[in-house]
Amino acid sequence: MKPMTKSPLQIARASYQPKLPTALHGNVAVKDGSITESVADQAEIKKLFPNTYGMPLLIFEQGEKKSYSAINVGVILSGGQAPGGHNVICGLFDGLKKLNSASKLYGFLDGPIGLVEHKYIELTEKIIADYRNTGGFDIIGSGRTKLEEEWQFEKGQEICKQLDIKAIVIIGGDDSNTNACVLAEYYKQKNAGIQVIGCPKTIDGDLKNEMIETSFGFDTACKVYSEMIGNIQRDANSAKKYWHFIRLMGRSASHITLECALQSQPNICLISEEVEAKNLTLDDIVNDIVKIIVNRSTYGLNFGTVLIPEGLIEFIPAMKVLIAELNEMLADNDDFNAMSGDDERREYVKGMLSPNSCNIFRSLPKGIAKQLTLDRDPHGNIQVSLIETEKLLIEMVAKRLAQLKAEGKYKGKFSAINHFFGYEGRCAIPSNFDADYTYSLGNTASVLIYEGKTGYMASIRNLTKPAAEWISGGVPITMMMNMERRSGKMKPVIQKALVRLDGEPFKFFEAYREKWADAISDYIYPGPIQYFGPTEVCDQPTRTLLLEKGK
Ligand code: FBP
Repeated sequence: MKPMTKSPLQIARASYQPKLPTALHGNVAVKDGSITESVADQAEIKKLFPNTYGMPLLIFEQGEKKSYSAINVGVILSGGQAPGGHNVICGLFDGLKKLNSASKLYGFLDGPIGLVEHKYIELTEKIIADYRNTGGFDIIGSGRTKLEEEWQFEKGQEICKQLDIKAIVIIGGDDSNTNACVLAEYYKQKNAGIQVIGCPKTIDGDLKNEMIETSFGFDTACKVYSEMIGNIQRDANSAKKYWHFIRLMGRSASHITLECALQSQPNICLISEEVEAKNLTLDDIVNDIVKIIVNRSTYGLNFGTVLIPEGLIEFIPAMKVLIAELNEMLADNDDFNAMSGDDERREYVKGMLSPNSCNIFRSLPKGIAKQLTLDRDPHGNIQVSLIETEKLLIEMVAKRLAQLKAEGKYKGKFSAINHFFGYEGRCAIPSNFDADYTYSLGNTASVLIYEGKTGYMASIRNLTKPAAEWISGGVPITMMMNMERRSGKMKPVIQKALVRLDGEPFKFFEAYREKWADAISDYIYPGPIQYFGPTEVCDQPTRTLLLEKGK
């Protein structure tokens, strides 16, 4: 693919040398850690992954010089873009070449489909040089094709044989790494001689566990959104006339929204996981927002900010039931797919829902109800980024405020603006943290490959310390798996990490949110990501990571 014309910042940034953990500076010794078990449903997962279950954790230490034979490797970018993807590839490329300069790296084009359809390029130093420390996935493109059918694995094997590829690196989120695990198991069971290694990518921050402290891209994306929220808050504080309803990407989990709240201190921030735990209805949420708006208006403050996680709607218990019914009903539903008109589809859906869900479906504005029935992604997930919850909330809040005004209980002015921040942050130039983290992940993957490992995810821990003290190694992907219902069937998948209400980031937010909501709002203005300058400005990890690590 043709690289974009470079900006002065990109030219200066190209020469940034990402920092690596000390163990990856020289020769690496790979030590076995404890034997692993899956997080849940151990018997089922073990049965489904007999060849890759129960492998030990791997920890890299400094070691003696070792020589490795040259190897050909394929790499795939999978799912939504996340800042730092290019640096994983650069770290992988440099790591492979460092240990044997005759090794080759092939990039499969446009996501997993490239493996199946045999579309690839060889990644040379010349190509790699154009993408060092850049955002985006455009070096080879990405896609959401789900690798789950045997014929796809066979097509993959065919091209690997043709190019003499002995290992594939899949850079993806929970679903893509689930696929990596299935592929690793399949090739191992067949003795195909193809290793599969995963790398934890997603801005959503929901691919994390005991061994994966964060997924890459979360840091940069949150910093971009927080900068934008900070700018809006300054505008709101200056003009004093708008309430800004800002929906933030992140799919189901509210990590991004929570992190942005910690960085910018908005007046209101909804956390889906809390909504679910407290069994709140849409009306409860609206009433809570209205209470704050009315209170601020008594001080003459008819402005403010509301952060809304994009997955909110899925966590309102009654809506969750409705969405689950829709997921089951719409999975491979040819009758529904054959219908062309919105009204026909709406009537069909209403006829198939349980009475409760049907009532809720009917009560929603038509546009939102339609959005709930749109195509699922190839992994069976509802496409929450298409559901305009911020508009729904504005509509409901305005209605409630009008009622209160009519009753003489509200004298303020309500003028609202809606925003959705998602795509704006997914391809930003990676922060120092993400640039270093991703380069280290790629390097780690190269060592796992040379060491003959398969079914592992590259892991870097100790991330709140300087990079030299980071701990690199590998985690068996089966360790992260459990059984979940997807598209109407129980399937083995990597367990999603949602916001923990007993976790430090949420507890901090909970302790301060009333203060942020009241008359003397306490906005923080984070400003743009800095790539050059003092370390306390340029190298800070997310507040989430710091709080989780007790800092
Ligand atoms: P991944 O889970 O693949 O990393 O995608 C993250 C994400 O940005 C979500 O936050 C969002 O809901 C979704 O992708 C949007 O998908 P698309 O890029 O297909 O519109």
